[in-house]
Amino acid sequence: MRRSFNEALEHRRTYYALSSQSPVSDKEIEDVVKFAVKHVPSAFNSQSARVVLLLGDNHKKLWNITKDTLHKIVPEETFKNTEAKIDNCFLSGYGTVLYYEDQDVVKNLQEKFSLYADNFPVWSEQASGMHQLAIWTMLEDLGFGASLQHYNPLIDAEVAKQWDIPANWKLIGEMPFGMPASEPDKKEFNPIEDRVKIYK
Ligand SMILES: Cc1cc2nc3c(=O)[nH]c(=O)nc-3n(C[C@H](O)[C@H](O)[C@H](O)COP(=O)(O)O)c2cc1C
Repeated sequence: MRRSFNEALEHRRTYYALSSQSPVSDKEIEDVVKFAVKHVPSAFNSQSARVVLLLGDNHKKLWNITKDTLHKIVPEETFKNTEAKIDNCFLSGYGTVLYYEDQDVVKNLQEKFSLYADNFPVWSEQASGMHQLAIWTMLEDLGFGASLQHYNPLIDAEVAKQWDIPANWKLIGEMPFGMPASEPDKKEFNPIEDRVKIYK
């Protein structure tokens, strides 16, 4: 990491407009994904996170699947905007990270620890969020811009077919990344005093 952890966390933003260059080798991107999947925690150390990294034509294929799927259900006049957004912000990037959670792992935990049965699906989603933040932050530390998208569950079936995704993997989110083509707007922050209580 080139930045300190605090600096990297502060630097992470939602970058929409992307171009398809990469500031690093594919190996460095793969290492970021593997590092996060290895070290990010999960409930009961269940390691339910599954990640698919799409680069090159595979990345483009994902966003063409998304466009085709939306074209079938979005009214024609709205679709123009949808298509422009996908083309300029997602498809135009260098790659996409798909976040999955293995539902077999969740079900096994529910059976094994029935007292916590209701909690395991929630904890699984929380652990996915931790993976998303870690990878998002590390991708931006490499010099990429990224955003977090949720075209699931609309695209799940086509994506599963295309990349042979096991039926027990549930798609949680899609993170397109690439070189930032514009900077995010200034971010508004609610007063921290309203959000954090400290007693000492
Ligand atoms: C759980 C979660 C879900 C989000 N879903 C979407 C989404 O579906 N589409 C999108 O464009 N941004 C999504 N975002 C991005 C947020 O809108 C963004 O992080 C927030 O406005 C703060 O801006 P920043 O990322 O630049 O700090 C999501 C963020 C989080 C944490």
